[in-house]
Amino acid sequence: MEAKNYHDYVIKDGKFIGDFQNMYKDCNDPWMQSEQPNKYSRSAGIWHLKNFNVKSALECGCGLGYYAEWIYRETGIVPKSVDVSSEAIAKAKDLFPHLDFETADISHDLVKYTDVDAIIFSEIIWYILPDLKNIFSAIEEHYKGKYLIVNQVFYKGSQKYGNEYFTNLEEFSAYVPFESVGQCEATLQTDSTIETSTIFKI
Ligand SMILES: C[S@@+](CC[C@H](N)C(=O)[O-])C[C@H]1O[C@@H](n2cnc3c(N)ncnc32)[C@H](O)[C@@H]1O
Repeated sequence: MEAKNYHDYVIKDGKFIGDFQNMYKDCNDPWMQSEQPNKYSRSAGIWHLKNFNVKSALECGCGLGYYAEWIYRETGIVPKSVDVSSEAIAKAKDLFPHLDFETADISHDLVKYTDVDAIIFSEIIWYILPDLKNIFSAIEEHYKGKYLIVNQVFYKGSQKYGNEYFTNLEEFSAYVPFESVGQCEATLQTDSTIETSTIFKI
């Protein structure tokens, strides 16, 4: 049988589908999470944790848990890692039984996890665009004085989805209602991605 393409469950023909639960049932390694591509932005996210002396974190949209494991190895922090797909969370628990995973939809459940120094969004922004303003309002209300770290990839000239929100790091930072206190941007001449990681003070 032909392998399923995870893109079809997420964004198809420029339209958001968001069927993450069936995607995790049908596809083994969506976004090649086990390889953790976009290493510059992910590493920068971990450096932000270290530089700002973060001791505890809520990781939103953790998927299969590979970035949680990387964070743990580099910092000793066991993030509270949540994902909207219970299928992803079950797989993450099997892969990394020493870490802390839970099913949650960050559009509604942010209020449950406020006892942390920082929130991490790694490669999730494109999938929560319509809820982003409400999510930022909830963050403002419940996480004041803490940090928000966003690892995010933009595409040089070839970005098709989400352009009406922002197309690059400058526009994204202007969209976020918190002060940027550190940011990294990296790109290779050989491909179209621009990897970014920004830390905001809430
Ligand atoms: C591109 S994956 C990122 C996985 C992981 N953060 C990483 O960097 O390897 C995006 C993840 O966001 C999750 N997601 C999408 N909407 C969500 C929501 N409203 N609440 C929680 N997780 C969500 C998806 O299920 C998916 O696992």
